Amino acid sequence: MTATIKAPTPNAYTRIISVGAYRPSRIVDNAEICTRIDSTDEWILERSGIRERRYAAPDETVVDMATNAAKIAIERAGIDPSELGVLLVASCTYPYLTPSAAVQVAVNIGATGIPATDISSACAGFCYGVGMASDIIRSGNATYALVIGAEKLTDWFDPADRSLAFLFGDGAGAVVIGPSGTPGIGPTAWGTDGTQIEALGIAPSFIDQRNDPINNVPMLYMQGQTVFRWAVTEMARVAQEALEAAGITSADLSAFIPHQANNRITDALVRALKMPESVVVARDVVMTGNTSAASIPLALSRMVEEGDAPSGGLALIIGFGAGLAYAAQVITLP
Ligand code: UT7
Repeated sequence: MTATIKAPTPNAYTRIISVGAYRPSRIVDNAEICTRIDSTDEWILERSGIRERRYAAPDETVVDMATNAAKIAIERAGIDPSELGVLLVASCTYPYLTPSAAVQVAVNIGATGIPATDISSACAGFCYGVGMASDIIRSGNATYALVIGAEKLTDWFDPADRSLAFLFGDGAGAVVIGPSGTPGIGPTAWGTDGTQIEALGIAPSFIDQRNDPINNVPMLYMQGQTVFRWAVTEMARVAQEALEAAGITSADLSAFIPHQANNRITDALVRALKMPESVVVARDVVMTGNTSAASIPLALSRMVEEGDAPSGGLALIIGFGAGLAYAAQVITLP
């Protein structure tokens, strides 16, 4: 007789228990940006909403920033790091193909040995991680998960590149996810459009660089208008899908925390989703710039710390970017 496989004992529901953030200390304002590109504070503010961003120190790494954010989230969750059943690091700027950033973060937080891996979904990476971690916990393969978005974008763009140098910054945010008596993370609305890889990414490849080290340094490229148009049209549909999958409408939300790419994209989504005035909208981009996978947990952390987002209220999170890739969920605020 064939033996039967014992299945893990599932958890019915999950929630985000805590959030932690790490912002590098160096503040870079628009005036400093404009010493390297032909632009103005007014133009940057009007086109993006960004006033300043944080730059990591030269010796400060993605792993360092991820570790700092993670330690805060773990402490706030009140769990021991050894209780983590999985660790996911979303990053598109970790400068090694292997081993992952996650295996090092596991060591740094005192959780050597836990399952740990990275997610390559750029600005959508954090929401990919939340969806995956939630499903891993619901399956019973883990009880607690740590999901981190960590980026050092300043390693990957030319500060004299006028098309994008004003947008990006560095930082990390982390959440601990665990089992819950009631649903705290809705179904993930997610997907990709790989026909648009030319719109945003880091290229050429390391192999190209090996063949021509001077001319083929991998750098961030972006067709700003293409990404902008895609975000304001397609992401409203994805956000709506996440709301419907969670069985709520935008009127039920306490907060809206989209990827912090550009305040004009956020404004367009707020209008398209008919968000009532009562919904608190994340505007962390003003002080932090675009930090790719880190932007949503950084914005969530600011909201929680500043008391803007009521614990237990509902929030819509949506990440979108290179791939093009996207993911969205309704969550209960920690
Ligand atoms: O996180 C990943 C997702 N990334 C994004 O979501 C980025 C999406 N894209 C954007 O946020 C916007 O496209 C930008 C903020 C990057 C640019 O704003 P835009 O309104 O799309 O500007 P544009 O490229 O259409 O340029 C408008 C004008 C042009 O001048 P003319 O042709 O109208 O005379 C540009 O040459 O602004 C000029 N321009 C600048 N002016 C001052 C372009 N870059 C700059 C600059 N400073 N840095």
